[in-house]
Amino acid sequence: MHIYLTGFMGSGKSTVAPRVAQHAGRAVVDLDAVIEARAGRPVPEIFAAGGEAHFRALEAEALQAVAARPEAVVALGGGTLHHGASAQVARASGQIVFLDVPPDVLYERLRATAAARPLLHGPKGEPLAGDALKDRLRTLLADRRAGYEAAAHHIVPADEAPEAVARRILARVDNR
Ligand code: S3P
Repeated sequence: MHIYLTGFMGSGKSTVAPRVAQHAGRAVVDLDAVIEARAGRPVPEIFAAGGEAHFRALEAEALQAVAARPEAVVALGGGTLHHGASAQVARASGQIVFLDVPPDVLYERLRATAAARPLLHGPKGEPLAGDALKDRLRTLLADRRAGYEAAAHHIVPADEAPEAVARRILARVDNR
């Protein structure tokens, strides 16, 4: 069974996953990287070319492919479990850990990279900043929280250094 890490953008999934994998003696997979490799272009370009629906279709296919691979630690995208059948696919093939980080911490972590994140752009495609970015983060997180909680087998507070979060995850999951 895989160990899937979920949580909002900026919750540390991609940073923590390699540490968990190393301690658990497993391979690490980053779902966004799998999507990019399969599509031959980066996530912002996938959004720009086909919109969010196109990205979600590629994401669901990539998750199906990853689910069938040998057990690993898998960093999901922040919205993977909220679209299509992906929450069921992940639950059927692994344990899901929700990295829970408060919105003000997410804001501090994301403010420098919001321009590279299509979902943190305004209606005209402009990168959000300041209060507009804070509002967007709060709204999107509020929309998604119930989905994270419903899908997760474990909820781990993740407002800490990556190694501490990794240890906390390892104490919770079944690594057989
Ligand atoms: C998304 C999060 C991103 C990426 C895409 C959509 C989301 O991944 O999959 O931009 O819907 O929250 P990270 O959570 O790894 O940043």
